[in-house]
Amino acid sequence: MDHQTELFEQIQQTGQGHILRFREELSESSGERLVSQIKTVDWTLLAKLIKEYVKSPGPAVADRKLEPTEVITLPGTALGKKRAAEARQAGEAALRNGKVACLLVAGGQASRLGYDGPKGAFKVGPVSGKSLFQLYAERILFLNRRYNIQIPWYIMTSETNDAQTRDIFAQNQFFGLPEDKVDFFEQMMIPAVDFNGRVLMRAKDTIFMNPAGNGVCILALKKSGILNTMKEQGIEHIFYFQVDNVLANIADPVFIGYHILDETDVSTKVVAKRYPEEKLGIVGKVNGKFGIIEYTELSEEQMYAREIGGSLRFGFGTIGIYVFKRDFLEKVNEDFNLPFHLARKPIPCLDESGQEIYPARPARPARPARPTEPNGIKFETFIFDVLPQARKASAVEVLREEEYLPLKNKEGENSPATVRRGMISLHASWLEAAGIKVPRDENGQVEGVVEISPAFAPDRESFVEKVDKSLAFEERLYIK
Ligand code: UTP
Repeated sequence: MDHQTELFEQIQQTGQGHILRFREELSESSGERLVSQIKTVDWTLLAKLIKEYVKSPGPAVADRKLEPTEVITLPGTALGKKRAAEARQAGEAALRNGKVACLLVAGGQASRLGYDGPKGAFKVGPVSGKSLFQLYAERILFLNRRYNIQIPWYIMTSETNDAQTRDIFAQNQFFGLPEDKVDFFEQMMIPAVDFNGRVLMRAKDTIFMNPAGNGVCILALKKSGILNTMKEQGIEHIFYFQVDNVLANIADPVFIGYHILDETDVSTKVVAKRYPEEKLGIVGKVNGKFGIIEYTELSEEQMYAREIGGSLRFGFGTIGIYVFKRDFLEKVNEDFNLPFHLARKPIPCLDESGQEIYPARPARPARPARPTEPNGIKFETFIFDVLPQARKASAVEVLREEEYLPLKNKEGENSPATVRRGMISLHASWLEAAGIKVPRDENGQVEGVVEISPAFAPDRESFVEKVDKSLAFEERLYIK
């Protein structure tokens, strides 16, 4: 039996034969397109997911024991400051010696933001209008100059945005970074299914697939050969960040330093929760192992629990920043087994007879129309599920105002408006820290717009050190 016949048989046996039902009607090229898409799918994995998660209720979370875990909090004492200084030294040495690479995961579809293009191309700079990609590139430029290095930057894309992402970097001359130090790799996609576990078709020649979540970056790093390249180049630590946090303090030497000194396989950055219901995954010990629990999975009792001193028992939330030991990720790849999570979503698809259930909107024919009620299930992996596999892991607290400003939604919280306002207010406070006057109204709001390029200074300390203190800020200021 040839490979294709074998594959079709496997598809029939796993109850997905319906995806081949329009084959006779398809033109030669459409037929080929369908077959080549089918070949990219891991049908054995999909059958397992459907059996374990769709046709049965999935692994129980109720009997999970959750306890607080230690966090390296902001240095308040002399001892804490000494330790932070030691961490900085260790992190800076690793950077200088070329032992650190950066990894950006940008394969998501940014559906909440509703932007036609890779989220990284979204322009957020309140004065400059610079994109997220450019702001991250400028942070790396700063580090390259400061430590006299060329940090390798790996960017994970997905089929949904790979070509566009590469084009944006090429058209912008890699935002001033050395071209051979920026590399892209694609993550895995996975079919979405209906509530009975049947794969959904987007068109007669196309299965509906979605990016399989940021957790598969571990797998994709291996498959693309990048983990090997890193090893050959002497990279030991991988700094992971996500495309939506404009203040991501990329390759922060203090954070990397704690991870080196404590010999952890992985460390994550956390911020103090503002209120118990805040939508942040919290860090804790899950069945005795360091882990992150989504806010949706906290019981009410756990959400509101307080320590004797009054602080929240589970009071630290993750901001999606990690540093991994390269050899830890190699080990995880020996038997990649991250769990999948299910998201019930409205998915545009074909009905049994091949009719589009949700016809494309006439105004924007290029964009798939969205049904409004969930009709299908998307499978996704989350990077934080790898934490329990670590021999040793830790959490490091950072200041939210300085390091966390996510862009998630079109409007309301975590939207372009809050991100721009947050940048203005942070950068205005840096000016004040340097003794430069900032005009403010009676409510303390900054009057005017100010922005500091990360290539000039990516953090408060370097800004205060470097800025010309005689500068004046009236209405509009861009420092680069
Ligand atoms: P989110 O889940 O917040 O982003 O992922 P999203 O999927 O782009 O947005 P929505 O949910 O559709 O609105 C957090 C980070 O993980 C990346 C995203 O690009 C973002 O940097 N991600 C997410 C991937 O790289 N691959 C995925 O399959 C999913």
